[in-house]
Amino acid sequence: MRSVIDILDLTVEEIDALIATACAIIENPDDYAEACKRKKLATLFFEPSTRTRLSFEAAMMELGGNVISMASASSSSAAKGESVADTAKVISCYADIIAMRHPKEGAALVAANNASIPVINAGDGGHCHPTQTLADLLTIYREKGRLNDLTVGFCGDLKFGRTVHSLINALSRYTGIKIVLISPEELKLPSYVKKDVLQKKNIPYVQTTSLEEAMPDLDILYMTRVQQERFFNEEDYLRLKDSYILDLKKLENAKPDLSILHPLPRVNEISVAVDDDPRACYFKQVLYGKYMRMALILKLLKEASE
Ligand code: NCD
Repeated sequence: MRSVIDILDLTVEEIDALIATACAIIENPDDYAEACKRKKLATLFFEPSTRTRLSFEAAMMELGGNVISMASASSSSAAKGESVADTAKVISCYADIIAMRHPKEGAALVAANNASIPVINAGDGGHCHPTQTLADLLTIYREKGRLNDLTVGFCGDLKFGRTVHSLINALSRYTGIKIVLISPEELKLPSYVKKDVLQKKNIPYVQTTSLEEAMPDLDILYMTRVQQERFFNEEDYLRLKDSYILDLKKLENAKPDLSILHPLPRVNEISVAVDDDPRACYFKQVLYGKYMRMALILKLLKEASE
């Protein structure tokens, strides 16, 4: 059974096809309004989420399908000690596809190995978040008209930010990509991502602590929140949380056609004054996330029925 746990589970050609489907849905939503009639999506979220869960649910509803969901992790059988493997087997009896978020790295893979229906990873701990990456790629594609020949800056919590890890993996398969890693010393990109992705694929990258210095070169600036829930120590979080705050002043040296992305939720990293700047793309990115999830649900349900 085909599941999507990591962005690399999809080939570049499949991502191109998902982008084409998402663009077709944007053009003609009515053509897709009954595409998943009588199908059920189960959203299993063992970790807080607003947009990812609602985005999956809205996506399924706009495809004419239904959604079943548990109110919260603490009200599910996980609180009684049920394993992820058993939960996946049980939900396979009720639904046609699962979207799952879990605080443990690898949990979605365990679910996929035990479910008899497709599983989509909606975030597993600090590991990866492939559907956010699909949203990011559609945003870049719609803004820039391409996914190659781009200098992409990642700023903030590059250590724990799973959306960063997934997007770097995805971009590593395109040509002419340069990466600028902007973070405090303590929140640098994990060395396994540097070694296994950037160095292995010969992607030019630089590491810096200065957003101001990096700014003039960037085509894309991907801002991120410091991931409070993955810190062991509150003091460290408080010291690092406001390391970078993007404001209009810092944008003075940016390219006029820079695209600013953020997976959201924003805490303090982008001043609200930036929201009205035409370079701010993060709310469009939310909408694109819904269309890419529609495209992915359609693809996986179609493959499952073949
Ligand atoms: C991201 C996540 O959950 O990793 N949020 C999201 O799904 N849009 C980013 C974050 O929580 O900072």
